[in-house]
Amino acid sequence: MTADQIFSNNRAWVKEKLAVDEHYFENLSKGQNPEILYIGCSDSRVTAEELMGAKPGETFIHRNIANMVSNLDLSSMSVINYAVVYLNVKHIVVCGHYYCGGVKAAMDSTDLGILNPWLRNIRDVYRIHKTELSAITNEEEKYKRLVELNVQEQCVNVLKTAEVQHAYRTTGITVHGWVFDIKSGKLIDLNVDFHAIVERIAEIYRID
Ligand code: CO
Repeated sequence: MTADQIFSNNRAWVKEKLAVDEHYFENLSKGQNPEILYIGCSDSRVTAEELMGAKPGETFIHRNIANMVSNLDLSSMSVINYAVVYLNVKHIVVCGHYYCGGVKAAMDSTDLGILNPWLRNIRDVYRIHKTELSAITNEEEKYKRLVELNVQEQCVNVLKTAEVQHAYRTTGITVHGWVFDIKSGKLIDLNVDFHAIVERIAEIYRID
């Protein structure tokens, strides 16, 4: 895809939107009121809005390598803060995907330079769940399970932030852990019991 193609696609898209509603972009410019914060992977195959059927204005989106929520990452922390405190989103989704290159790299011992500290967070997920993961002998199954457990742990990281804890107790914000299966195109809800997790980690992570 060339840059020229992109601009030509954009012109066609504007035309298409205005044909249906001549005030479409004018209305978009008035503001956003998304109910969902979506945190996903940067992978080019996992197109957040398209796979959810979401329209412009409906989802606040943050993407990085392997859908990580690191407390030292000012970008994801700012996104969560803004979405929860100012946009008052009702849901926070962490969406991982099978065949994630970031997760795969964390299962390997290759030195990847600047990527090492980022992927180290995934190795930590592996360590936390070592008993379960080491018992899986099929490599592809282990890889898929680490993708799922990484989503779960990033959801826990979302729940460790003060603003989400506050919203959880007041407005009842909900956190969701999902996985996109590239092979089937299907979105899978991991049905993580976050109430139980919040109870379990409260002693250590609670912030009033
Ligand atoms: Co990925």
